Amino acid sequence: MTIDLDPTTTPATSALAPVRTAVKRTVLMCKPDYFTVVYRINPWMDPAIPTDTSLAVAQWQTLYDTYVGLGFDVHLIDPIDGLPDMVYAANGGFVIDNIAYGAAFTYPERQPEGPAYMDWFRANGFDVRVPVEINEGEGDFLLVGDVILAGTGFRSASNSHEEVSAIYGRPVITLNLVNPSFYHLDTAIAVLDDTNIAYLPSAFDEPSLAVLRERYPDAIIVTEEDAAILGLNSYSDGYNVVIAARAKDFERQLRERGYNPIGVDLSELLLGGGGVKCCTLELRR
Ligand code: ARG
Repeated sequence: MTIDLDPTTTPATSALAPVRTAVKRTVLMCKPDYFTVVYRINPWMDPAIPTDTSLAVAQWQTLYDTYVGLGFDVHLIDPIDGLPDMVYAANGGFVIDNIAYGAAFTYPERQPEGPAYMDWFRANGFDVRVPVEINEGEGDFLLVGDVILAGTGFRSASNSHEEVSAIYGRPVITLNLVNPSFYHLDTAIAVLDDTNIAYLPSAFDEPSLAVLRERYPDAIIVTEEDAAILGLNSYSDGYNVVIAARAKDFERQLRERGYNPIGVDLSELLLGGGGVKCCTLELRR
């Protein structure tokens, strides 16, 4: 073992920062072979701006390689021609206790993704629950410890929160999103570990903010600037936090708290309105 005492590479962890523990993750991803922007269902998307599919694939590959390097178990679902948003695997479902609650997408352009992901879950031994209510999977459902934070306002219907609560028997906390640029909960909240989160206050209405402040007094509050490049759309194993490389203040705050931020550049996938977390669906057996 070597001990790195070089102050330029040693993380600026404060003496008070707690020791963080990485927990090995199992995730599902979808290679963006057919990624492009041909419709507009969120403010980030503009079909007039050209996309570079091979660059999207190369950037996505760096995320894949990062996860493999962290020791994650990474599964892949085959991309389908004509479903350009399928790369955002987080929306494909919500998986806890080996139960996969399927997605039912808001917009017709993405609706065929729901059954495609459910087929994958079935073929891979998950107990699939076909959804009744509109919901976009882990885009709007985030597990923090034993509590499920659930977003609504733009995509997932609030009735889906009840459906999730009935399926998993865990407390579900409804949060109202108010800014169309942060249309999925995972664009406004990052789960850091079983007890803490990072979030963007302006993405929520007052009652939801009150809930977040009360439950997570030690949360990281990210800047508007970092949120504006979907910096919150990140994925943590409890110690390593994979974030947008450009989210510099978020990176600094994570380091101060004893986390290990790892920056990746997914600029091409940002053209579709997604980042690190959007490309990642956690599989909990
Ligand atoms: N273009 C996709 C949509 O608007 C992006 C999805 C991003 N996914 C996420 N988990 N936030 O549906």
